[in-house]
Amino acid sequence: MRSLTFLCLLFLFSCSDSELVDLKNISHGAELYKNYCSNCHQMDGSGLAQLIPPLYQSDYLTENAGALPCIIKNGLKGKIRVGSNSYTLAMPAVRNLSRDDVKDICVYVLQKFPKTPIVIADSVLKNTHKNCP
Ligand code: HEC
Repeated sequence: MRSLTFLCLLFLFSCSDSELVDLKNISHGAELYKNYCSNCHQMDGSGLAQLIPPLYQSDYLTENAGALPCIIKNGLKGKIRVGSNSYTLAMPAVRNLSRDDVKDICVYVLQKFPKTPIVIADSVLKNTHKNCP
């Protein structure tokens, strides 16, 4: 049910619609990704063996794209499946990021790693971040 709610928040566009995406801060998103995510998930999003799940073409990320702001803000724990592997290590909350920072990371991650880039409206991203449990 929860993921259904998130799905409703998603606006899915194909690559060719990228003019609809506000990409002006994407290099800021890339910089933040490098500083806050890449030491675990790697620059190319491939993750680390059985410890850190990949973001690159992650089915989990695609299905939970709307939850990304809250994953960043709160971290993630409990066993999850990504592709054919399962992961049990907890991801720590990434602190000290403003709402705009979180938004910029999400835009970058959702453009760069899914098979088809995923677009979520800025306002929805920021609002979701504000309302994380
Ligand atoms: C200290 C290492 C670490 C850092 C830093 C980190 N993560 Fe994670 N991340 C993990 C681990 C471990 C999991 C698996 C959590 C679980 O099994 O419940 C995970 C899970 C995820 C997932 C869901 C699984 C998947 O692969 O699709 C996403 C999305 C994600 N992280 C994004 C990010 C983003 C974006 C950042 C930077 C803002 C980040 N992570 C920073 C370790 C990390």
